[in-house]
Order: sequence, then structure tokens, then C-alpha cells
Amino acid sequence: MAQSVDPTAPILILDSGLGGLTVLGEIRQILPTASLIYAADYAGLPYGTKSEAEVAARVCGLLGRMSERYKPRAICIACNTASTIALEMVRDVLEVPIVGTVPAIKPAAAITRTGTIGLLGTAATIRQPYVDRLEADFAADKRLVRHAAPGLVDLAEAKLRGDAVDPMAIRSEVSGLLEADGASDIDTVVLACTHFPLLEAELAEVFGPEVQFVHGAAGIARRMATVVHGQQFAPPPHHRAVTTGEVARLHGLAPLFARFGFETIEQF
Ligand code: DGL
Repeated sequence: MAQSVDPTAPILILDSGLGGLTVLGEIRQILPTASLIYAADYAGLPYGTKSEAEVAARVCGLLGRMSERYKPRAICIACNTASTIALEMVRDVLEVPIVGTVPAIKPAAAITRTGTIGLLGTAATIRQPYVDRLEADFAADKRLVRHAAPGLVDLAEAKLRGDAVDPMAIRSEVSGLLEADGASDIDTVVLACTHFPLLEAELAEVFGPEVQFVHGAAGIARRMATVVHGQQFAPPPHHRAVTTGEVARLHGLAPLFARFGFETIEQF
């Protein structure tokens, strides 16, 4: 099977915006010869305030059309919201292997000393049955305190665009978690949105040195490496960024994308 994969076929990485770059960075490190397409669905951002039906329809439709156009060897849904809602559906409709990004509850449960874990995600992610299952499977003997912090998505986007981040805005987004019952026992916080690791330094200021943060990016990259193991990659890798929104919105980010190795930014 591995021999039949086109050696120029890219790995497609999808997020609603820039959050998936946290996953892409890890995939690039572990698979330096792979060509990558980073798709930022700015026409659909934010996913986290949409209904399950909207997110599922959007992600299935988009990945179907992108698969036809780019013929990826594998897809990474670098978004917790999209993965917890639509991963199984996308796997049902597409032939291509899909790696999802779901809240890192398992590693958090393995390292918490107090047994109380915070989970920061979008409003859509924290209510998903997928998260209930992760909690039941891996943290049944722990206390998981979930909190939606949708405003962190915009703050992360702004930070990557070069804007100053207001520490008070970060604090106010997570205050619901800090003030929740039993919150003083939280020693581990799952960053269950791919945008949030972009604000880890700012979040660390708010939570203090006793709290550790966990996210899944490195594990997802390792999973992707397993999925494409044994396949050929034609050098040199060619990376493309595409957006469903106004391409001008990404052009301002050309220096940022250049740092991640992207030569072109195109309209999808
Ligand atoms: N980056 C996405 C996630 O991991 C969410 C951002 C959004 O709300 O679109 O959940």
C-alpha cells in the first residue's frame, strides 16, 4: 500500500485560522521532507461558537473539496473543535487517512499530582460527548473542570499578527476557570484548542508557576509520522498556505508563514 502513494503528495493540515500552526510546527520537525499544505478556513472562523451541524457540514465539505484538489496522502484536522465534532464523520466520507486533534486529557491525567485538571477549550469543544468519553476513559478518577475561553482565539490570532496582548484580557477569559469550585487544586491545564498554546507564556503569567500546561501537538505529529511511515517523499518539500477567506488577510502574515517554510499563500 505504502508504495502506491505519490511521492509528491502533500500532507494537508486544516484549522479555522492560525492555531493549527502549533501542530504544523511539530509535524515539520518530525517529517522534514514532507510537503505540507496549511489550510486556514478564515471564511469559517470561529468554529467554536458554531453549532455541531454547522461545523460538521463545513469541515466535511471543505476537506472533501480540498482532497479532490490537492490529493493529500494524509490529513491532519489541527483543530479540537472540528475533530471532537466531525472526526468520525470525515473518516466515513473520505478515503484518505485522517489524524485528529483532541483534548490531551490522557497525558494530563498521567501527570497531575493533585488529581484536579483544568480544561480550556472553545464553547463547542467543552460540551462534546467525545470529551465526555475521554474523561471517562482516562480521567475517571480525576476531577476535570471545563471552561470555554473563546476570546483566546482572537487574542492568539492578534498575537501572531504582531499585536500586543493585554494580560487583563487573558485573565478575564480564564477567570471562570480560576474561580470555579475546587480550582485552587488545579495543577494541570489542558489547552484544548490549537490556538491556545500560542498564548502559553501569557497563560502561565495568569495561572502561576505551580500550574503546568498540556496540549497534543507533539503526540499528533508522532501519530502522523506513524500514518505515513514507509512512504516515499520527493525532495525538496514544497509548502503552500491556502485560505478560504480573503487572501489579503494572509498576505500580511507572509513573514510569519515564511518562518514556517511557506513559499506561497493562495486562495482556496
Ligand atoms: N483552533 C480551533 C480549536 O482547536 C478553534 C478556533 C475556532 O473557534 O475557530 O478548537
